[in-house]
Amino acid sequence: MSWHPVEAYGELAADISQVLISEDEIHERVLALGQEISRDYAGRNPLLVGALKGVFLFMADLLRAITIPVEVDFLAVSSYTAALRDRGVVRLVKDVDVPITGRHVLFVEDVIDTGLTLSYLLSTLQARGPASLEVCVLFDKPGRRLVDSPLKYRGFELPDSHVVGCGLDFRERYRNLPFVGLLKPELLR
Ligand code: IMP
Ligand code: MG
Repeated sequence: MSWHPVEAYGELAADISQVLISEDEIHERVLALGQEISRDYAGRNPLLVGALKGVFLFMADLLRAITIPVEVDFLAVSSYTAALRDRGVVRLVKDVDVPITGRHVLFVEDVIDTGLTLSYLLSTLQARGPASLEVCVLFDKPGRRLVDSPLKYRGFELPDSHVVGCGLDFRERYRNLPFVGLLKPELLR
């Protein structure tokens, strides 16, 4: 199944200076990630955990690309202040609903930029004693990394620019674009 062509997204598409990754490329890569995860986690009933909101579209696609029994849960974070955010301290505004102790947890992220949010969330989850804890990220922007965490599954490497689409926003817009693109630079100011 394909969504609409780029032009159909009218005023949203008009704000995009360049499509970096097409819907078809994303679909193909997500299918491959699902296959890998299904093979690696066979017999382990993994729990996929995502951080809202950005991850919801990737999570929906990744789940359907996984062919083994799997569970899913979400948490939500918000930044306290700019200063605390810069140190990677985020506030958990919604926790996962199920205990993760002894579970094989796969933390799913839409994009990793500085890595600060990821590193904070991984240490929070790790403290609860999961049987294993790995990361699956759709978009990796290694150019801006401040803290490194091992990424077991990685969809695409992206340049160091703000991207939108496929769940990723700029001021809450553009999440519904089925492709990933660069915003026109004048809009980012
Ligand atoms: P980090 O803590 O710097 O790695 O930032 C991670 C979070 O920032 C992601 O989960 C996104 O919510 C957001 N983010 C980082 N880069 C982008 C981007 O290019 N577009 C949209 N959101 C982004
Ligand atoms: Mg995110």
